[in-house]
Amino acid sequence: MKLIFRFMKKYWYMALLASAFMIGEVYIDLLQPRMMAEIVNEGILGLSNGGKSDLNLVINTGIRMMLVVIGGGLCGLLSAVFTNITGQGAGNDIRKLCFERIMSFSFSQTDDFSTGSLITRITNDVTQVQHLIMQLIRGLVRCLMFFIGGSAALLSLDMSFGVIVACAFPLIIIDVTFVVWRTNPLFTVLQESLDRLNNIIQENVTGIRVVKAFVQEKNEVGRFDEANQHLVDTQFNVMMLLSYLRPVMNIVLNFAVAGIIYVGSNQVQKGAIAPGSVMAAITYISQILNGMMMLAMIFQTLSRGLASTKRLQEVIDTQSEIRQEQLPMEGDGTRGSVQFENVKFIYEDNGAEVLHDINLSITPGETLAVIGATGCGKTSLVSLIPRFYDAAEGHVYVDGVDVRAYDPAELRKKVTVCLQKAEFFSTTIRENIALGDPEANDDEIRKAAAAAQADGFILQQAEGYDTVVAERGMSLSGGQRQRIAIARALLKKGEILILDDVTSALDLKTEAALYAALNREYSDVTKIIIAQRIASVRNADRIVVLDGGTISDCGSHEELMDRSSVYRDIYHSQLKEEEAL
Ligand code: GTP
Ligand code: MG
Repeated sequence: MKLIFRFMKKYWYMALLASAFMIGEVYIDLLQPRMMAEIVNEGILGLSNGGKSDLNLVINTGIRMMLVVIGGGLCGLLSAVFTNITGQGAGNDIRKLCFERIMSFSFSQTDDFSTGSLITRITNDVTQVQHLIMQLIRGLVRCLMFFIGGSAALLSLDMSFGVIVACAFPLIIIDVTFVVWRTNPLFTVLQESLDRLNNIIQENVTGIRVVKAFVQEKNEVGRFDEANQHLVDTQFNVMMLLSYLRPVMNIVLNFAVAGIIYVGSNQVQKGAIAPGSVMAAITYISQILNGMMMLAMIFQTLSRGLASTKRLQEVIDTQSEIRQEQLPMEGDGTRGSVQFENVKFIYEDNGAEVLHDINLSITPGETLAVIGATGCGKTSLVSLIPRFYDAAEGHVYVDGVDVRAYDPAELRKKVTVCLQKAEFFSTTIRENIALGDPEANDDEIRKAAAAAQADGFILQQAEGYDTVVAERGMSLSGGQRQRIAIARALLKKGEILILDDVTSALDLKTEAALYAALNREYSDVTKIIIAQRIASVRNADRIVVLDGGTISDCGSHEELMDRSSVYRDIYHSQLKEEEAL
């Protein structure tokens, strides 16, 4: 509820106007039975006129009734408009804030929620909260007014009608409480099954190529069916429970109407009340009980909306783990240096220790290569420099300042990472490269592409730099994707450039041309190059050999060939592979 009030605050006057017009609409609804009673009692039966009907009064009151109905309709319309403005506005603000939060999440926080759940939360859950806000503004006022105003109007006709309200009321309360109590826990389950379904859809749509390549369509459809069935079952249970509401209400309503007729006719016989007023009483009791019915629906929206509010609150309350910390900002005057000091790294989700006792100092402008078996922690090691993750122990320094002291955005301006798996957006090649620096001009973009050995093949595309890339870069070959990603990283002009296994799909000649261009044009940039092939890195200033989660050796190719058995093993195994080809 806190969340709802927080976001409605901005629109309080709209909510107030919506409620005011709603009050107007209900007031007019409550006025009509009275006017009808007047037409019957005075116009038709002529009770105060010795039984002489009065056609003029019928016409006049009829016209008045029509005008009042038009006024009521207008109030209803305006109330709906202001309710919509409040609901949509607050929903929009919640969605925006959630999206901003999600953008600030660290990788592990995103993993914790799961992509599917985040998508459900920012779409379906926000819609549920929007419904709740709109129901609270319109429905609550409407049903309370019907209940209070209707009861007052009914009792003002004849106090004995009060007995009927007093009998019907507890029955309805029992009915509503039962349904709300049983459905309440199901709404969280409902949203969770939506999460699961969204996860499966998202995984399969993005991974459709893998699914098809491994002929897994049947299995995946099975997985989808299972999750879908769970959703359908939960929804079915909710609907079944909700279906108890209406029939019970209808029975109570019909009994109440019968009661009014019974009590009313007794009173008419006694001459305590006019027949037209009994008609009005029947309308009032329907309005009162319909108001109660609406209250039941509000309770249902309320429990569903509150389940969604809790899920959105979780997103909003999740503060990014990667936040600037109060640590000294004085650097050592270098530009492009990196130090690892007794670093230990653990993936918190499964507690796996991936790196330990890492001590390494990289000087500005140096080309440092990292080599090691697959899964030995190379990507994890470099992820600590731009603070994609935090070290569990020890420190990582950039330019002599602990990375935790930087504003993360500032740190990531200095450190450019070209990820192992490049991500693309469905726009032109030019815009995909310009992600590195949206202000760059065409010359700068082409220069970066040329250094990344991408200019040639880009110009051969149908529309050159304006060729639109298919979703996630699927219209490009693996090597083309890697080179566009490198061009993007080079355009960013950071002090430190990390290339995480981005040349694996390039032939040795293109790879050599790329490194030559890097050394020539980006000589002042510190380069950290992860590679699988020794041939890719043998010209680096130093090569770090990662083994068993730590640095087993570090030196030039010749030094390592001389003294590192791990390095020699890698070298010989790759030599054998080449010979075998
Ligand atoms: P290649 O890229 O295959 O050469 O491997 P790498 O040397 O880059 O290894 P990486 O740093 O990606 O992974 C090191 C270890 O951490 C592996 O055992 C992975 O299973 C594990 N790992 C990697 N990413 C994650 C993650 O996001 N969460 C968890 N829990 N473990 C991870
Ligand atoms: Mg890796």
